[in-house]
Amino acid sequence: MPGTVTVGWTSIAGLQPAELDALIQRLPAPEQARAGGLRLDAQRARFVVGRALLRAVAVGPTALDAVELAPADLGIDVGPAGEPLGVGALAGLFLTLAHSGDCVLAAVANRKVGVDVQQVREGQLNAALAARVCSPAELAHLDSVPEPDRLRVFMTVWTRKEAYGKALGVGLDFALHSVTVSPGPVVSGAQGSWQVCDVEVGEGYAAAVVAEGLDWQPNVEPVDRQQL
Ligand SMILES: CC(C)(COP(=O)(O)OP(=O)(O)OC[C@H]1O[C@@H](n2cnc3c(N)ncnc32)[C@H](O)[C@@H]1OP(=O)(O)O)[C@@H](O)C(=O)NCCC(=O)NCCS
Repeated sequence: MPGTVTVGWTSIAGLQPAELDALIQRLPAPEQARAGGLRLDAQRARFVVGRALLRAVAVGPTALDAVELAPADLGIDVGPAGEPLGVGALAGLFLTLAHSGDCVLAAVANRKVGVDVQQVREGQLNAALAARVCSPAELAHLDSVPEPDRLRVFMTVWTRKEAYGKALGVGLDFALHSVTVSPGPVVSGAQGSWQVCDVEVGEGYAAAVVAEGLDWQPNVEPVDRQQL
């Protein structure tokens, strides 16, 4: 649907080696090779589940009307900056992915889109980091919230900003303090129109999706890992 951004998330908690191997076997050869090159088990699990989730989100009823396609038909290339690019049956769709802790988050849309998720730990906000990342309006908002809530609110700013950078295709490689992504639902200081939406992925995480234009709605679904 043109006005929908399809978002899915899942967890790698308790993923057993046999389940991971089965997911790897279903990936196209270049992705199997990339999975094989990842040294840490958790890195490999996040990458493999990420690719499987991205395809599952893409064939979801609102994103792509092609449910019978095999993973190899749903091509995912890697762009020059590391961004996922749809090819084959996915050509023309915009894809985006993020992983943190046990959570893997993906979105697919027919417009530029980015997602981010971050595990939020207890602790105090690093004021120097906040000053580097936040715009003056975001800093003023942070100052207005009670101390115990500041780190959580900052992580909302961070995930929104990283999601915006991914939608642009630059990741975190831009002047982070030059745009305001929070607390309102629209990115200000940016070229063009970008809408922001927080995503609820469970206790202990902050997550967001940003996409081009103001005429879209997120369709967010938890995805059962057994269905990947
Ligand atoms: C993209 C970036 C934000 C990823 O951050 P991260 O917290 O490590 O990882 P996340 O889990 O949030 O996201 C990873 C996913 O982002 C996607 N991604 C990578 N680069 C991207 C880009 N430029 N634009 C959009 N998406 C990108 C990939 O799909 C990746 O997952 P995959 O490798 O499994 O396919 C970060 O690497 C970055 O800012 N890169 C650009 C700047 C850069 O390369 N700096 C290096 C200086 S030494």
